[in-house]
Amino acid sequence: MAKNILITGGAGFIGSHVVKLMVNNYPDYHIYNLDALTYAGNLENLREVENAPNYTFIKGNIVDAPFINKLFTDHQFDGVMHLAAESHVDRSILSPLDFIYTNIIGTVNLLQAAKEQWKGNHEGKLFYHISTDEVYGSLGETGLFTETTSYDPRSPYSASKASSDHLVRAYWHTYDLPVVLSNCSNNYGGFQFPEKLIPVVINNIQNGKPIPMYGDGKYTRDWLWVGDHARAIDVIFHKGVVGETYNVGGHNEWKNIDLVNLMCDIMDRKLGREEGTSRKTITYVKDRAGHDRRYAIDASKIEKELGWVPSLQFAEGIEKTIDWYLANDEWLKNVTSGAYQAYYEKQYGERV
Ligand code: NAD
Ligand code: DAU
Repeated sequence: MAKNILITGGAGFIGSHVVKLMVNNYPDYHIYNLDALTYAGNLENLREVENAPNYTFIKGNIVDAPFINKLFTDHQFDGVMHLAAESHVDRSILSPLDFIYTNIIGTVNLLQAAKEQWKGNHEGKLFYHISTDEVYGSLGETGLFTETTSYDPRSPYSASKASSDHLVRAYWHTYDLPVVLSNCSNNYGGFQFPEKLIPVVINNIQNGKPIPMYGDGKYTRDWLWVGDHARAIDVIFHKGVVGETYNVGGHNEWKNIDLVNLMCDIMDRKLGREEGTSRKTITYVKDRAGHDRRYAIDASKIEKELGWVPSLQFAEGIEKTIDWYLANDEWLKNVTSGAYQAYYEKQYGERV
């Protein structure tokens, strides 16, 4: 069935994978990618689909309410997949207000525009909000986040995402706006901006720079291949029950130090360096403020109810990811020129 779908944040890491999947798999849909092209947004991520007849890129900011309202009037969207966000915890510690504007105000602007456009006719309409497992706070050595775990965000990033989740649910309860939500664990794969752990490690090993390890290195994350998250988003958009939330995760917990050691060994092999070379560059640095100890997802609801399971084993996924960065040296150089240097200096300058 022909539909107009708005994807926000489609020039970012996860968004670009979602845009490509939707443009390629649904020729009847017209995909509108709305992105402000902040430091994290990059049209190079979308080369594969930029000339597709069912794809349109729109540069714009979700914080600009009149612009968003006009966009909805002009295009009469049937569905929204909302991924645009300020997404990096360390940046939220440096500049929290950016996160409040984009993640909270921007989300309300989209909700309000969808509510006005769909008023009285919710048939076939859906507002899908893509969120994070960080809203649930931090786990101890055991236990998993389920969809009913109480919210307990600790960083300005996770607090802003928690706030947006609450507002999405408020529009469902108060105005019957058809919504669905998902909360996912850490993603990895190609096209991730080198401020997040995995691409920082790859970039620094390649360039002979120290690998910054926060605190004792025993913080734990549950890593999911970005392609599997994009598949989950497709499944939830098409089969998810309105008003419901789905947790998405990889059953793949790693302590940071174990993950980085593994990556060092793979990179040494691929770069023809002597075994142990990169491990020697791991540098323990001052911890992240309010650092969450462990995240781990119980993804049984989406598995049982919607039939989604991760497709890629981590051993294969991490090799594939490293190969992608090594083959896309130019992409990495382009995104790390200019403003990246200033950010890196501010974030790591006194630490490493
Ligand atoms: P990202 O930072 O790579 O991309 C965010 C995109 O949003 C960029 O293209 C940026 O230009 C755009 N954007 C930012 N502010 C905007 C604004 N005001 N108006 C319009 N566009 C704007 O983020 P990501 O890692 O791809 O994450 C995408 C979404 O998924 C986010 O909502 C994030 O909270 C969520 N999420 C991410 C992860 C992860 O591991 N990366 C895990 C779970 C959930
Ligand atoms: O859990 C989902 C979340 O995962 C998403 O909502 C966020 O958008 C995404 O950024 C990610 O958040 P994290 O804070 O877990 O990811 P990050 O890659 O920044 O850090 C992963 C772990 O590695 C964390 O324990 C901090 C540590 N770390 C990170 C960096 C950048 C280091 O030790 N050194 C580093 O240089």
